[in-house]
Amino acid sequence: MSETWISSQLSEAEAFFSTVSREFIEVDMADIPTKMEQTLEQLMILFDVGRMSMIRLTEEGLLEGACSVAKDGIEKPRIHLANPEGIYLKNISAGNVIAVDDMSLNVMTAVEFEYARMEGVIAHLICPVEVRGKIWGAITMSRFHEHDHWQDVFITRITTFAQYLAAIFERYTLWLKTREQQKQLVLLSRHLMENQEVERRALSRELHDNFSQRMALLSIKAGNIVNAIEKDEVEVDDAKKLYLTIQQLAGDMQALSRSLHPAIIEDLGLAAALKAECRRVGKLTLLEIHCLIDPLPQLASALALNLYRILQESLGNVVKHAQATNVFVILEVRNNQLSFQINDDGVGLATDIKDKKGNLGLVSITERTQQFNGRASFDSPAEGGFMVSITIPLEDDFYE
Ligand SMILES: Nc1ncnc2c1ncn2[C@@H]1O[C@H](COP(=O)(O)OP(=O)(O)OP(=O)(O)O)[C@@H](O)[C@H]1O
Ligand SMILES: [Mg+2]
Repeated sequence: MSETWISSQLSEAEAFFSTVSREFIEVDMADIPTKMEQTLEQLMILFDVGRMSMIRLTEEGLLEGACSVAKDGIEKPRIHLANPEGIYLKNISAGNVIAVDDMSLNVMTAVEFEYARMEGVIAHLICPVEVRGKIWGAITMSRFHEHDHWQDVFITRITTFAQYLAAIFERYTLWLKTREQQKQLVLLSRHLMENQEVERRALSRELHDNFSQRMALLSIKAGNIVNAIEKDEVEVDDAKKLYLTIQQLAGDMQALSRSLHPAIIEDLGLAAALKAECRRVGKLTLLEIHCLIDPLPQLASALALNLYRILQESLGNVVKHAQATNVFVILEVRNNQLSFQINDDGVGLATDIKDKKGNLGLVSITERTQQFNGRASFDSPAEGGFMVSITIPLEDDFYE
């Protein structure tokens, strides 16, 4: 390739870059993937390669395709992305450029080599790309015709291009994530309002059917005792029974009001509140709830309340869905990391949790965890049971 060819190609690239950057400013967020594809197609022609792709490093440290294009008659790149031993992942993560002119075996695995040879690839170029000081992924391209050498100026220019595209792509994925979160927020607030109605109805029913009836019965019994005293026929046993019934009623009312507004967290601390809730649910159902709670530091009240609500939703789910016998509630704090698990031995979930749309208990658990930079995961192993697992890094301002 002659020097003049390279320099004319680079000045053409310069002009193209300034046009494209202006165009990207105008593009709607939703159209970014299409615009990126068009840009790569134009770059492919400009740099005289047969196909191109942008691949990105995921949070899990694997590679995934972001965008790829190929000239007519050439298949889109099929890099062995999932292979953690693959040459691409190792080099890209280390920020090494792979510029292969002769398809040599020392930079690719035998399978990759064989695949490329069969396809007719003559030369490969893979340039790692950084966004905000961190490796984002890479731009890759292949030539299928006569090739001299990948020039350094060319590599530098293409990397800058790719860096620009990668930054835009990151903004796009952030936008997608925010849009998804907004949708969930709308669903969540609707769900909260509906739940409030359901809870109010349940509360009014509980007050009417349970407490009002029991109070009415008590006042009749108390009236009978008054009559008996007036007639001097008072039976101590009757008075004792009345006293016990009043005690029971007072206890049940206290438990109900505490579960509605857990002042118990402030009074006795989170550990006691969680244990009390386990006892309350255990008494109402046939569940054996095993509560293993580490001594806890004094947590911020909003975090403590969230953990309490997470327990309530999880136990509610066990009661509603699990047909379980045992529930294990485990809360530990190790190395400034709080881990909270609610596991049951019930029927578990046959389908993928991701298919369960429209139910918001688990979504609300996730939201409550994310408020404190934590992670929530839900798992239903093949042998049955359901596991809710929360981890929250305890930062200084999460302590009271
Ligand atoms: N402990 C469990 N055992 C078995 N399946 C469960 C368990 N917990 C949750 N699930 C499944 O996961 C689904 C989602 O739970 P989620 O709490 O989000 O919704 P829900 O309880 O059905 O409704 P709500 O929105 O009122 O909470 C449930 O419908 C149920 O199928
Ligand atoms: Mg639920």
